[in-house]
Amino acid sequence: MKQINTKELEQELKKQLDHKRFYHTIGVAYTATALAMRYEADLEKAKVAGLLHDCAKCIPPDKKLAMCKKYNIQMTDVEYSNPFLLHAKLGAFLAMKKYQVSDEEIISAILNHTTGKPDMSLLDKIVYVADYIEPHRNKAPRLSQIRKQAFIDLDEALYMILSDTLVYLQSIDGAVDPVTQRTFEFYANQRTKEAACTHESNGTGKKGLSGAGGQKS
Ligand SMILES: [Fe+2]
Ligand SMILES: [Fe+2]
Repeated sequence: MKQINTKELEQELKKQLDHKRFYHTIGVAYTATALAMRYEADLEKAKVAGLLHDCAKCIPPDKKLAMCKKYNIQMTDVEYSNPFLLHAKLGAFLAMKKYQVSDEEIISAILNHTTGKPDMSLLDKIVYVADYIEPHRNKAPRLSQIRKQAFIDLDEALYMILSDTLVYLQSIDGAVDPVTQRTFEFYANQRTKEAACTHESNGTGKKGLSGAGGQKS
């Protein structure tokens, strides 16, 4: 990967983001780096992806729509009605065009940090989870459990976040991007299959998993 000066990147992002978003960004970058240490991913890529994941977040909604039209970035109906969802696609675009990032893993992690996607790469998962658990976050339920789980079993933390995100969006009648739903189903299925394998291999006869929000036995 082409070396990126992360100090300069931080300075630039400080100008582009509001105060709260900038500190969230720093929190995601350092949490992603810590998770990369735990799961033996590339530390530099985790930090750069964390720094850039919300680089388009503070662009006003009208401008987000206008930029997507101008640069031919495809929008779904859900994104068109909820332009804040576009900050991931637009962020990936700016990472390439404005911040000169060519690494596909970093671009993918930025692109997928809001909805996730089925069968994410390790870096995708690290940034997705870091975005939810970074130290400035304080509102999500089960935050302390998920933070702990993130350093024990990344896929389980991912599943918990997807599950809680869907429950939250349904509780406020918020727009659910179909990709979030598909991602949840993918990881719920994976979890069930893994539990069945464990069940077969240890022959305990114990029931492995419950439904959404359930804990591993
Ligand atoms: Fe975001
Ligand atoms: Fe974020």
